[in-house]
Amino acid sequence: MKYRHAHHAGNFADVHKHVTLLALLAALKRKDKGFLYLETHAGRGVYDLSDSAAEAAAGIMRLASDGCVAEELRHYLACVAQLRRQWSSARLYPGSPWLAAGELRAQDRAVLIERLPAQARALEKSLAALCGQRRIRIDSGDGFEQMRAALPPPERRGLVFIDPPYEESRRDLERVRTACCDALRRFPTGVLAIWYPIKDERTGAGWQAGLARDIGREVLLGELWLYPRDSRVALNGSGMLIVNPPYRMEEGMGSWLAELHRHLDAGHGGGTAIRRVAPG
Ligand SMILES: C[S@@+](CC[C@H](N)C(=O)[O-])C[C@H]1O[C@@H](n2cnc3c(N)ncnc32)[C@H](O)[C@@H]1O
Repeated sequence: MKYRHAHHAGNFADVHKHVTLLALLAALKRKDKGFLYLETHAGRGVYDLSDSAAEAAAGIMRLASDGCVAEELRHYLACVAQLRRQWSSARLYPGSPWLAAGELRAQDRAVLIERLPAQARALEKSLAALCGQRRIRIDSGDGFEQMRAALPPPERRGLVFIDPPYEESRRDLERVRTACCDALRRFPTGVLAIWYPIKDERTGAGWQAGLARDIGREVLLGELWLYPRDSRVALNGSGMLIVNPPYRMEEGMGSWLAELHRHLDAGHGGGTAIRRVAPG
C-alpha cells in the first residue's frame, strides 16, 4: 500500500469532503439524542501541510475566513484555526477524525478505524487531548470488515463515513458497494457518507447507479470538480455520495457548494452538481 494521505492533505477534495462532513454532523446535532460517528478509513488525524504544499495551495490555502459567507464554510475555517491555535502551528491541517471528534457532545460517540498501525498510533496522539473529554475508540484494522461489529449502534442514530484511498480503484469501489449493503442491512436508518474521486465518467456513473440499485434506495450526490470531468489530470473532482441524507441537507448544500466552488476554481473548466440517483 503506497497511498499516503499526508501528500494530499488540505487539497480541494479534502476541503470539499470536510465541509460536507461538518454539515452532516451539524444536521445530526439538531436532535438531542446521541449518535455514533463511525469512520472506516480514518488516517492520522492531523497533517503538516509542508508535505502537501502544492495541493494545499489549490485547496485550503484558497479560503480565507473573511472572504467566506456561508455558515458551513466559516465553521470549517474556524475548526482549522482552532487546531492551529491548539498546536501553535499555522502549517497544520485537521483530518476528518479530528474534525468529527471536536463536534461530539457528551451523548455522542466515535469509533475510528485505520488499517496502518503507525497511522492509528499517530491518530491516538492527534486525538489525545479530545479522548479524555469525549467517548472515542480507535481501532487498527480493516475498516470494511471491522465496521460491522459497530453496527447497529445502540443509539440507533449514526453517521458512517467511508473514505478509502482508491489506490486499487475498482476494488475499493466494489468494497464500498458491498459495505453499504452490509451497513444498511444492519442499520437501515443510518446516514452513510462516501467520498469518491471524479476521474472517469463512465466508471463513476455505473458505480453510482449500481450502488443505488444494490441498496434499493435513492442516493444524494454532491460534486465539485476543478477540471473537465473526463480529463487526464490525476483528480478532476471530488464527490460525496450520501445515503439517508438528513433533513434539508440538499438545500443547505446548494448554497455552500456554489460558494466553495467560486473560491477554489481557478478557471480550468470546473463546476458543481447536486443530484439524486434513483435505484431504478
Ligand atoms: C484518504 S485517507 C483517509 C483520510 C481521512 N478520512 C481524512 O479525511 O482525514 C485513507 C486512509 O485509509 C487507510 N486505509 C487503507 N485501506 C484501509 C482499510 N481497508 N481499512 C482501514 N483503513 C484503510 C489508509 O492508510 C489511509 O490512512
